[in-house]
Amino acid sequence: MQTIRIERTACPKEKPGKENPLTFGTIFTDHMFEVDYEEGKGWYDPRVVPYHKLELEPSSMVFHYGQEMFEGLKAYKTEEGKILLFRPDKNIERANRSNDRLCIPEIPEELFLEALKTVVSVDQDWIPTKPGTSLYIRPFVIATDPFLGVRPSHTYKFMIILSPVGAYYASGLDPVKIWIEDDYVRAVKGGIGEAKTGGNYVASLAAQVKAHEEGYSQVLWLDGVHRKYIEEVGAMNIFFKINGVVITPELNGSILPGVTRDSVLSLCRDWGIKVEERKISVDEIVAAARSGEMEECFGTGTAAVVSPVGELRLEDERMSIGGGKIGELTQRCYDTITGIQLGRLTGPEGWSV
Ligand code: COI
Repeated sequence: MQTIRIERTACPKEKPGKENPLTFGTIFTDHMFEVDYEEGKGWYDPRVVPYHKLELEPSSMVFHYGQEMFEGLKAYKTEEGKILLFRPDKNIERANRSNDRLCIPEIPEELFLEALKTVVSVDQDWIPTKPGTSLYIRPFVIATDPFLGVRPSHTYKFMIILSPVGAYYASGLDPVKIWIEDDYVRAVKGGIGEAKTGGNYVASLAAQVKAHEEGYSQVLWLDGVHRKYIEEVGAMNIFFKINGVVITPELNGSILPGVTRDSVLSLCRDWGIKVEERKISVDEIVAAARSGEMEECFGTGTAAVVSPVGELRLEDERMSIGGGKIGELTQRCYDTITGIQLGRLTGPEGWSV
């Protein structure tokens, strides 16, 4: 494997003050990782360098056709000062599946992992340790050919930036209100819904704006063909607990295969809870919410870990879930996953690196 060159900054930035609560994704550390790609040459010159602005041709293909992939994972510092990454192999595997779908060249897994470890280690003093905080890691690839024709680029840049973060939602773990969206859709089978790429997120914005205008935090996405089956919530996967059974939509080609989704499924199975990955219709959800059989509903994602849902709104009907309070299973998933991430609990083999 190529050696990662390290160039340290001569002007370290001031770190966020301990007294200010951290928000999500607004502060960036002193360094970043960069590696370039050229057809015929492969990935070359991997380096950790001071965090800097990019100089790109305005004609760079990423600006016009959105050929880009991103990932998100987190680093934590344990009470003994050890640095832990949570299931980085899952993000690396998914990144290359997204790359494949987006015609971006594969990133060697060994280089990806070494890049994560190196850049986090160089900026380890930026890992916050207050409860609910972590160092969010954002790996991403952009297409850099200066070209306006539509085809895969021949050159790319893969970068990793780091951001000390607090809760994704300003309301923390307070249950959020969700708008069931039956007009806009996020993705369709055969499209790019299961790839982690900006296109899926820009496709979600209009519905998010509409939901915000109505006083809702996020939208519940339905499938793009029948507008009938549940897909995701906001930028997260979704779980329901109905009559003691944990149900999440099966991965069908338009749903993002979330790492936290996979972790929750695996923990619930270990705990002996009945779990179902299957199609779940909005009618079933509405019936369960109306009858009170829906005990819990929560979103899962790297940024928020879990996010309880306290209200669902469909047209003029508002359905309260769990009395607007965080459910027992939601809290257990949050405590267990963050406990493993912080090295306080031992997770399954390979979850902490
Ligand atoms: C996640 O939580 O996994 C996300 O993808 C959210 C991110 C886009 C901020």
